[in-house]
Amino acid sequence: MSSRQEYSDLNEKIQIPGRKTVNEVFDESTIKALYKLMTQDVFDYIDYPISTGKEAKVFRGVTKDGESLAIKIMRINTAVFKDYRQYIEGDYRFKKVGRGRKMIFTWTKKEFSNLKKMHDGGVRVPEPITFNKNVLVMKCLEENDSPAPMLKFLNMSDNYVNAIYKDVVEDLRKLIREVKLVHGDLSEYNILVMDDHPYLIDVSQAVPLTHPLAQDLFYRDVDNIVRYFSSKGIEASRESIIDKIRFEEVLDDAKD
Ligand SMILES: Nc1ncnc2c1ncn2[C@@H]1O[C@H](COP(=O)(O)OP(=O)(O)OP(=O)(O)O)[C@@H](O)[C@H]1O
Ligand SMILES: [Mg+2]
Repeated sequence: MSSRQEYSDLNEKIQIPGRKTVNEVFDESTIKALYKLMTQDVFDYIDYPISTGKEAKVFRGVTKDGESLAIKIMRINTAVFKDYRQYIEGDYRFKKVGRGRKMIFTWTKKEFSNLKKMHDGGVRVPEPITFNKNVLVMKCLEENDSPAPMLKFLNMSDNYVNAIYKDVVEDLRKLIREVKLVHGDLSEYNILVMDDHPYLIDVSQAVPLTHPLAQDLFYRDVDNIVRYFSSKGIEASRESIIDKIRFEEVLDDAKD
């Protein structure tokens, strides 16, 4: 069968609502990856797009048992990914970065393994399921059948915001001291709130403490958290978070 014929056959088999408007993400290799995941019973069907951004599109997927998934499809757009090389290089886990689309596959694998480490380490993140090429599958964070909202868009009472802040700091502490990863893009945009707890998402750029960028990324993450929660009336400070985590001590240990 010609590859064109195979592509259109697969296209027929995958039912994707809103397809016309989201079409451009589905190049041949993405369609094949989705099809493979479907035949492996990872998901039964794709439900609707949750988010359409410049780096990734996230769809709600449903398993045969009716469980809901988040299917994150990284765009095969090397222009967007050119900055990402620096996060992969210097990470002892990913010796072969690859070029072009191969780099995007490495990026997807990196998000999967970061998620897995965090989840295994007890940090609140979506549970990773599997990945194939540029497609990452994880559990969907949702409440009352709707995807969990971003922290940024929540209206919170003072008590509530304080509890969320404490949880975020505790997750940061676990992330650094136990999982030994720095998130690297932490902000109110990459935290979802479900069942009154924050969940960290979007972890593809997370790096180990031994990475040359680890320290700078950690301070940037902390500053973003301090800025956001201070704007909500919380007494948050860089010093108090760093004290709690004893960051420099862990960093020194990691370098030994
Ligand atoms: N596991 C999940 N459950 C529910 N919603 C999710 C999940 N993962 C991602 N989302 C939704 O998809 C959005 C985009 O996901 P994410 O932040 O991981 O991608 P991104 O790399 O920032 O993509 P872009 O920069 O293109 O927006 C999130 O803001 C969130 O609304
Ligand atoms: Mg994001």
